[in-house]
Amino acid sequence: MLSRHNTLMLEPSPTDGLTRASTSESLLGSPDYAVLRARAHNLRWACVDMDVIPLTAADPDLPAPQQVVEHLAQYIASPHFSYGPAGGLIEFRAAVAQHFASTKNCTIDPDAVTATNSAASAITLVARHLLKQGDEVVVQDPVDFLVTESVRRAGGTLRLWAHDQGRFTLDGLAAAITPRTRALCLCHPHNPMGSLWSGAEVRAIAAFAAALGIEIISDEVWSDVVLDQRAFTSFAAMSGSGATPWVVYGLSKGYALAGLRIGAVLAPSVARAAEFRAQAGFDHTIEGASTLSQVAATAALMHCDEWRAAFLSHVAQQRTHAATRLRALAGVELSALPEATFVLFPNISATGLACETLAARIEQFARVRVVPGSPRWFGHAASGHIRLSLATTRATLDEALDRITASWSSIIDVTHKHSK
Ligand SMILES: Cc1ncc(COP(=O)(O)O)c(C=O)c1O
Repeated sequence: MLSRHNTLMLEPSPTDGLTRASTSESLLGSPDYAVLRARAHNLRWACVDMDVIPLTAADPDLPAPQQVVEHLAQYIASPHFSYGPAGGLIEFRAAVAQHFASTKNCTIDPDAVTATNSAASAITLVARHLLKQGDEVVVQDPVDFLVTESVRRAGGTLRLWAHDQGRFTLDGLAAAITPRTRALCLCHPHNPMGSLWSGAEVRAIAAFAAALGIEIISDEVWSDVVLDQRAFTSFAAMSGSGATPWVVYGLSKGYALAGLRIGAVLAPSVARAAEFRAQAGFDHTIEGASTLSQVAATAALMHCDEWRAAFLSHVAQQRTHAATRLRALAGVELSALPEATFVLFPNISATGLACETLAARIEQFARVRVVPGSPRWFGHAASGHIRLSLATTRATLDEALDRITASWSSIIDVTHKHSK
């Protein structure tokens, strides 16, 4: 499968015992690596050397669900690509509302939903809508850079919510609040730690914020990748209880649609959604999501339950398998398995290497790229960690882990010079 340091040929249906595809994996379709090498940017296949496996940006290698492809083909068969409604197609907004009702424990008015060009753009638009220059915003530390970057771009000043052994508790939140705190900008489920709050925790955070008159922006782009049949409670369920949650959603993680750049903002009320759309420029066609992307997303939400179940089962198996293999490496610690997401975030401090150095050496010796826990990606509290994405086939994951395992002694040998 591997012609080392030359090119990598990954086969879709591995046959050996170690890398056998699960039943769920076979329902998901096979990646076309030649296409991924041409199309998958953002630190992935199109951006690395031909022999490198990128377990980097959180974007599945899997092809989109077949029903999405069919609905797009049907739509394109009548080739009128006219402007759609400012806030998004009613079918899309209704599908998001129904999806939140059936999977996230809340009732949403479709008119409170606005279709956006990605979750990343949605967080930034909401932050710009709510914040003025210098307002303080509490964010978790560590957290995916898109959360902090969106707050910064909106002029907000970051206040860091430190975790307590991997959990973000109310005590930690209280310590981050000042009289100037205007909002919480949260990542739920959490990237990169893979944790999620229980319903009781969500209620407690919402009540805490409501008592202080603080707005909540909850980035729930990972809420479709909650594992082991755990329940997920959206902050959107807290509307009406005195809290004013703004929920950000997207389909890049749960349905492999990253390049379609499709997401949504769920405002705390229909009236506030209308103000948001007017202020952000939706009513003037300055903002808005592509109708094609909304058609694809609607098909995903309405017709792909079986695909999603297979995907979740596959991700859960990948997680457990990869965790066992990584824990066998000297200096790698992975205490709790992620409850959600398809990333692992092991602590590698015991190797004695900085995470940037370790990541560089993994690429040098094993020809696998991972994301270092640098401030640029996840904030200062990520130091001493690396992040690996598992949203690929078992064969590709095992190929990457085989290479890392085989080279581990060289990777962590500090007397070895980094030569690349
Ligand atoms: C927490 C978080 N928010 C937002 C995004 C980006 O989502 P989208 O591709 O819809 O912009 C990511 C992607 O990794 C993420 O981890």
